[in-house]
Amino acid sequence: MLTISPNGLITEVLDLILQIPEFEDIHQQKDFEKRFSGKKYLILIAYWNGRRAGFNVGYDRFGDGSFYCWLQAVLPEYRRKYIADRLTRELEIWAKEKGFRKIIVKTRNKFPNMLHLLLKNNYSIFEIEKKDNIRENRIVLEKVF
Ligand SMILES: CC(C)(COP(=O)(O)OP(=O)(O)OC[C@H]1O[C@@H](n2cnc3c(N)ncnc32)[C@H](O)[C@@H]1OP(=O)(O)O)[C@@H](O)C(=O)NCCC(=O)NCCS
Repeated sequence: MLTISPNGLITEVLDLILQIPEFEDIHQQKDFEKRFSGKKYLILIAYWNGRRAGFNVGYDRFGDGSFYCWLQAVLPEYRRKYIADRLTRELEIWAKEKGFRKIIVKTRNKFPNMLHLLLKNNYSIFEIEKKDNIRENRIVLEKVF
């Protein structure tokens, strides 16, 4: 059974990140605190049969009425159970309730499952930031409520 907690802790996300093989960037508590400082933010933690299985972290990055979905992942052993799908929808519901008008997400070519998930959930690509390595290209999507 899937449950979602809207009161996740940074330490829980850091612990999960270490178990996501696709994530190479190093994240630290202070990076989170700096991004969240003085801003609305949300840490969703997904539990599958009571075990931590994934997360979705967002914050008011741009201060323009959009809510930025920053980090999202599901542990490999819990994938394909629609956990990310649910996390995405829960983030949207929360953001809408708080008065945000759209969600912005940045992903990369090297995260095709995320891209698939977002397109399936009616996100639209509006920008591509090119990098030397095409797999690293940043793909920016939005969903307007
Ligand atoms: C992307 C990620 C969060 C998806 O998590 P998940 O819980 O397995 O996704 P879901 O079960 O909710 O999948 C929902 C949809 O995405 C699609 N999807 C998920 N994994 C997929 C895969 N491996 N291949 C193709 N499609 C996939 C599913 O097909 C499903 O769509 P459908 O209804 O058409 O079948 C997970 O694969 C992950 O953590 N990846 C590594 C980290 C990452 O890429 N994070 C995003 C960084 S921006």
